[in-house]
Amino acid sequence: MKHWNRYNPIGAEEKAAVNRVLDSGVLSKYIGAWHEDFNGGVEVNAFEHELAEYFGVPHAVVFNSLTSGLIAAMGAMGVQPGDEILVTPWSMSATATAILIWGGIPVFVDIEPDFYGIDPNRIVEKITRKTKGIIVADIFGHGARLDELRALADQHHLFLIEDVAQAPGIQLDGKFLGTWGDVGGFSLNYHKHIHTGEGGFCICHRDDIAMKMRLIRNHAESAVSGSPIDDLTNMVGFNFRLGEMEAAIGREQLKKLPMLLQQNQKKASRIIETLAGESWLVTTPVGKPGEHAYYVLPFRLTDDRITNSQLAEKLRERGVPGIVCGYVNIHRLPMYQQKIAFGPFPWAHSEPDHYHYDIGQFPIAETLHTKTFIGLLISMFDLNEDECTWIANQMIAAYQELSAEVQHE
Ligand SMILES: Cc1ncc(COP(=O)(O)O)c(C=O)c1O
Repeated sequence: MKHWNRYNPIGAEEKAAVNRVLDSGVLSKYIGAWHEDFNGGVEVNAFEHELAEYFGVPHAVVFNSLTSGLIAAMGAMGVQPGDEILVTPWSMSATATAILIWGGIPVFVDIEPDFYGIDPNRIVEKITRKTKGIIVADIFGHGARLDELRALADQHHLFLIEDVAQAPGIQLDGKFLGTWGDVGGFSLNYHKHIHTGEGGFCICHRDDIAMKMRLIRNHAESAVSGSPIDDLTNMVGFNFRLGEMEAAIGREQLKKLPMLLQQNQKKASRIIETLAGESWLVTTPVGKPGEHAYYVLPFRLTDDRITNSQLAEKLRERGVPGIVCGYVNIHRLPMYQQKIAFGPFPWAHSEPDHYHYDIGQFPIAETLHTKTFIGLLISMFDLNEDECTWIANQMIAAYQELSAEVQHE
């Protein structure tokens, strides 16, 4: 079986950055009180400044993970027990867990099958007097239908948070993903286009929201007196702080982001071009080149005689790397099926019978998961042109084999 090299964006620049921090002896500098070091050390501050500049926003706040960042964002937006937040079921679990932590109730909304984002046409029917916000995921590397979602959020006085874990540095209609929302959150974990081992950051426009996120990051309850925040809602602190070494690595990674994105987009283009004549599968209809980060190169099967798991098995036999068969349907996780998080809370706070996470409720996300979605995690492998062509040809051959088999049945 062929050996595949793992993608590795860490080089001499990151090593030098880590050595700079080690030489300084200051591996972290936060003080969890209102103090000149409340915002951390030189690398953290410089990284936040550079991120804000890159995205053209007033604020960037770094965290030890995006999970922490999303929790801080939900807290800063003022989510309280019993508040309903509309959320995509087609994302990593943290997108919805961030709601639960504050006692909010995730209300899932089905997705649309082109960009795999929350479907704007299904939002209004889910809005109640308890709805406070929407959290979308720009999944696999492409934006959700953000112009429509932004307009709906404004029209109904809801906040909009964007989970951009998988799409750093991508623009939609000339506007960076993450800036469509009131807060946009990015992951810097080991699996992402740019990484710091573990880490994440949130960008936002509003001073008060940025300050609240900084407080939640750093023991809010000890730091709030003296700070400009006088509304104590959710000023319950955590330790979500990113260290100086990770921030120093992040600064180098940010410089490489455009180049790394282009490399990954080249891999995707090669595979898509090779599959151009194949009508049994479709990929995301990307408007302009560069509008997809291809964290996962997504495909939807259109031949209903075959399923994603059958094709995945054939591809694995052929040694194709990074196969993603189906994707997370968050509502299917046991905690939602049994409605048990903090004991019976947060559901027991409201009307538990009012919230349903039954399997079958979200036909688009569920059919994609069980039957029609197959993706390639191309961002995790170092692939040259020939290897990309080989992968696409294996897909064609695997489909032909499967097609012949189902014909004979
Ligand atoms: C869509 C999405 N949201 C949130 C996260 C959580 O990010 P982190 O691992 O930095 O907490 C991930 C991580 O894989 C993700 O893919």
